Amino acid sequence: MKILLVGSGGREHALAWKIVQSRHCEKLFCAPGNAGTSAIAENIQINAEDIDALAGFAEKQKIDLTVVGPEVPLVLGIVDRFEKCGLKIFGPSGKAAMLEGSKAFAKKIMQKYGIPTAESREFVSAEEAFSYLKKQKAPIVVKADGLAAGKGVLICSSLEEAENAVKKIMLENAFGEAGKKIVIEEFLEGEEASFLAFSDGKTVKPMVSSQDHKRVFDNDEGPNTGGMGACSPALIVTKKLEKKILREIMQKTIDAMKKEGAKYKGVLYAGLMIKNGKIKVLEFNARFGDPETQAILPRMDSDIVEIMLACIKGTLKGKKIEWSKKPCACVVLASGGYPGHYEKNKEIFGLEKNCNAFVFHAGTKKENNKILTNGGRVLGISALGKTIGEAIQNAYFAAEKISFEKMHYRRDIGQKALKKQTGY
Ligand code: AMP
Ligand code: GLY
Repeated sequence: MKILLVGSGGREHALAWKIVQSRHCEKLFCAPGNAGTSAIAENIQINAEDIDALAGFAEKQKIDLTVVGPEVPLVLGIVDRFEKCGLKIFGPSGKAAMLEGSKAFAKKIMQKYGIPTAESREFVSAEEAFSYLKKQKAPIVVKADGLAAGKGVLICSSLEEAENAVKKIMLENAFGEAGKKIVIEEFLEGEEASFLAFSDGKTVKPMVSSQDHKRVFDNDEGPNTGGMGACSPALIVTKKLEKKILREIMQKTIDAMKKEGAKYKGVLYAGLMIKNGKIKVLEFNARFGDPETQAILPRMDSDIVEIMLACIKGTLKGKKIEWSKKPCACVVLASGGYPGHYEKNKEIFGLEKNCNAFVFHAGTKKENNKILTNGGRVLGISALGKTIGEAIQNAYFAAEKISFEKMHYRRDIGQKALKKQTGY
């Protein structure tokens, strides 16, 4: 099969690495890819959001399967567009991807179908939001409805802060169109975990659980990022909780979307808050997580293309997905200043020294035979181990061999999991 992978981050390098191992894959293209994907696939210079150009390329090259990494093309309807041209594509339709594309839509689905989530209200008028806030208690969460590159959620520790958040989103248009509507939501306490599953629109098959590390500094301090590292499994997700998540959240959501006339095919990602065995959904994503994917895919023993094809065909029920018992840790190496302003084009050293870890490229590019930084999150170093502790140790051992000017990374990836270590 000729396969096209859309996107350019660490998630996409991990997907590319897994896809090229498939017995179905003869040739892989990445649009636009990064320096890591260029070593195992052919990068093509088409932006991930340029759906017309992607469809044109897929038709001309007779691509047999397209896999979409990021959310923007999904929400823009890349799947509908490809299917209309008779092209096979893995991912939810534009309507189904609204689970990520509109927080208000996701909330409505959860409320209507009894899927546990924080209490919330949506607003299209700042005045109404202000008067609602007067009767609320802090902390409280204000969210832009639409896609805001992971920046649209503001956790407010006072009502004054919440009013400012409403102003910023609705009156100052900090997130443009995405902030025309907002959701104001109860603040939830607990521990977060990510739960991803494959679906063909009817059946749901879980991946192994994982945990992201969103804040930039150790001990969950500093501003939110796209994710500074991940661990799989998330030990807070016990076998019993996993069953509950699968039944009461994932399957219910897939069934709900089918009833709403928006069959959900692809990867469904639930961001969860867990406290005392009670689970609530913080958000849905319509795709693989980044950097969760870099900690999940090294544990997947099955052929990922076969699973993706089953999702498209509606035959997932008969498929068994095999996973390694070995835990995996991924440490993200970031540019100085990230998630704020950072410089690019720093030469990366030490990449050739890693044989016992997966070096997944994110913001990198190749120029004159040198690998240079080209983004905020530059690399994701993933490693397996017999225990979570060993996986973490292996990932850091490999990370320490790599360097570039002003590189920074968290030193405590997986520590929460390590503290909970039971059978791993
Ligand atoms: P989201 O994009 O909705 O996942 O939000 C990004 C991050 O904000 C989450 O990973 C949580 O850390 C935090 N968050 C979102 N909603 C809530 C909430 N209701 N209570 C507490 N934290 C939240
Ligand atoms: N790791 C969070 C996300 O992919 O949205």
